[in-house]
Amino acid sequence: MERIKVSFTLNGKPCEVMTKPYSRLLDMLRDDLRLTGTKEGCGVGECGACTVILDGKAVTACLVPAPSVEGRNVVTIEGVGKEGKLDPIQEAVLKEHALQCGFCTPGFIMSAKALLDENPFATKEEIRRAISGNLCRCTGYEQLTTAIYEAAEELRKLNKTKI
Ligand code: FES
Ligand code: FES
Repeated sequence: MERIKVSFTLNGKPCEVMTKPYSRLLDMLRDDLRLTGTKEGCGVGECGACTVILDGKAVTACLVPAPSVEGRNVVTIEGVGKEGKLDPIQEAVLKEHALQCGFCTPGFIMSAKALLDENPFATKEEIRRAISGNLCRCTGYEQLTTAIYEAAEELRKLNKTKI
């Protein structure tokens, strides 16, 4: 089968992939690049398990055609956290016991990251809205909301010490 080249920025680094012309971003990440942190749940944009950040916005990778990310900026769960250190959102999710099976967790973290990158002063209501497209069948949403709220506080502290 003929493949096409897609060039884009992935987790801060240039990336070139040969993929099938009809691949979804989700297929290109999981099958071509072996980045399996992004999960496939419903495959039709309803569960949020496949959430990644595209040009700063949270998107469901199962609904994004792979060729459409040409020249754009993609961040996946593998790009969150730096040099063996978890991101404050990941730390807070662990601290608040905001996961059980963990299947939905990368999607929640990416939705939260897109929100807090844009608005580190997000309220609990804004957090609930940002994660409203992510479904969790076993932990529920309260611990996740608390964890993301705590992570926002931590990120604000970290950014203050950098100034
Ligand atoms: S797998 Fe993409 S939204 Fe469910
Ligand atoms: S922790 Fe299992 S689906 Fe959310």
